[in-house]
Amino acid sequence: MSSNEEHGAGTGAVDSVAAQRAIGNEHLKLQELIASTEHALSLGEADPQVVRLAGELRDAVEAHFEREESLYYPTLWALRPSVESALKTLVDIHRDFCVRLGSLVKTLERGEVLQAARQLEDFSALFGEHERAEERILASLLEAS
Ligand SMILES: [Fe+2]
Ligand SMILES: [Fe+2]
Repeated sequence: MSSNEEHGAGTGAVDSVAAQRAIGNEHLKLQELIASTEHALSLGEADPQVVRLAGELRDAVEAHFEREESLYYPTLWALRPSVESALKTLVDIHRDFCVRLGSLVKTLERGEVLQAARQLEDFSALFGEHERAEERILASLLEAS
C-alpha cells in the first residue's frame, strides 16, 4: 500500500467512522446511566447511593463533552470545515448541561428528591435532543464521504 493510500483520501472516512462509533457508544452508555438515575430517583429516597449515582452521571457527561470538544469534533471539522459551525453551536450548549447536572446533584444533597426528579426529566429530554442532533450531523458527514 502506498503512503497515499494509507494516509490519503481514505483517512478522513476512517476517522469519521471511528468518531461516529465512539460518540454513539458513549451516548448509549450515558442513556443507560440516565435511566439508572431516573429509576433510583423514582424510589423516592435521597440516600447516599442516589447522590453518588447522580454525581457519576454528572462526571460521565462532563467527560463525554470534554472528549467531544477536544478530540472528536476538532478531528471532524478539520476534515469537513463545512460542519464546524453546526458542531460549535452544539458545543456551546454543553456548559448549560453541566450547570443543570451540578444543580441536580446539589438538589439531591439537600434531600429534595421530587425536585431532582423533575430536573433530571428536563435534562434527559434536552440532552436526548442534543445527542440526536449530533448523530444526525455525523451521519450526514459519513453519507457525504
Ligand atoms: Fe455534545
Ligand atoms: Fe454527545
